[in-house]
Amino acid sequence: MVLMDRLGRPHDYLRLSLTERCNLACAYCHPVGGEQIVPEELTWDEILFAARVLVERAGVRKIRLTGGEPLVRRDLSGGLSRLGALRRELGFELALTTNGVHLSSWLPALERAGIRSLNVSVDSLNAQRFKAITRVDALPGVLEAVRQAEEAGLKVRLNMVVLRDMNLDEVDGAAAWALESGRHLRFIEYMPFGSNGWRSGRLVPYGELLARLQANHRLEALAADPHAVSMDYASPGKPGRIGFIASMTRSFCGGCNRLRITGRGRFRPCLFSKPGEEVDLRPSLAARDADAFLAAIQGSLDLKSPGHESPQDLATRMTRPMQAIGG
Ligand code: GTP
Ligand code: 5AD
Repeated sequence: MVLMDRLGRPHDYLRLSLTERCNLACAYCHPVGGEQIVPEELTWDEILFAARVLVERAGVRKIRLTGGEPLVRRDLSGGLSRLGALRRELGFELALTTNGVHLSSWLPALERAGIRSLNVSVDSLNAQRFKAITRVDALPGVLEAVRQAEEAGLKVRLNMVVLRDMNLDEVDGAAAWALESGRHLRFIEYMPFGSNGWRSGRLVPYGELLARLQANHRLEALAADPHAVSMDYASPGKPGRIGFIASMTRSFCGGCNRLRITGRGRFRPCLFSKPGEEVDLRPSLAARDADAFLAAIQGSLDLKSPGHESPQDLATRMTRPMQAIGG
């Protein structure tokens, strides 16, 4: 069985949020006066059941752990090793998106679980700016963890959300740094979520960034996976890459193969789903009822829209914070 939506898009990639909690309070993300973050997490038994059913019965071949911040999940150690054992048994790809603050100490456990690829948020390469954005003085530790992960042979990609009034002035230097030092850095367009301060003037369209970077670098577009959210570029003679995740100014929904389970056990067919399109997976997970679990997901997937609305419309509609969705 393959999970298909009504447009015939096959869905074989699960983004699984381990927790809504996060140890950073990024200025462009953290809800101010919005919905309260309630940490009602799925148990590891439920998570492992969900993963097993989706891989064994629904053809899921990749699971990305997200959050909140997945590395602040309290019972992470035992859960990771069980997930690693399931991965060895069933052979799916396991990846992680993290803010990197606790990465260094978790690296051995992540490797043991078979995680070979990490996406790490780095919204500024300036320690003071990083602290101003995230409210935590953690940049040196994050960069050191990135270096350790690379040294251990993991594929690491860096995410930088660009806001006109936050870090646009860093983009040229960051791109040069990534290209010269062999990193893969992706610039992400700022998306509206609940109480995250989104205004159209703060969004920097990727076309503007690309033009700006092309003034200083010869950039060549790389072939993209049909399901990729990022458009990647290399610069001849340089080891690094840069990419653009242009969720707001470019549509890549036609290639969407993503399933989402939120930190409190709800299935979302889309990052920007409407509340009525989500379904609570807890009843079927608590009952360990695989048929009901898959039926709930399929029912929600049947409601998945072909694409999402304009940034302005999303800004008026999206009330839940990114942390509660899983990115
Ligand atoms: P891989 O392709 O597996 O590497 O994942 P990714 O690059 O999508 O994962 P990551 O968690 O690093 O997310 C990077 C950015 O892409 C974040 O801002 C996400 O919110 C955004 N993103 C992820 N999935 C989607 C999606 O389905 N639609 C849109 N519009 N943005 C997405
Ligand atoms: N717009 C774009 N990207 C965001 N992220 C968090 N909030 C937003 C937003 N409003 C990014 C994080 C992380 C990735 C999972 O999503 O910085 O890199």
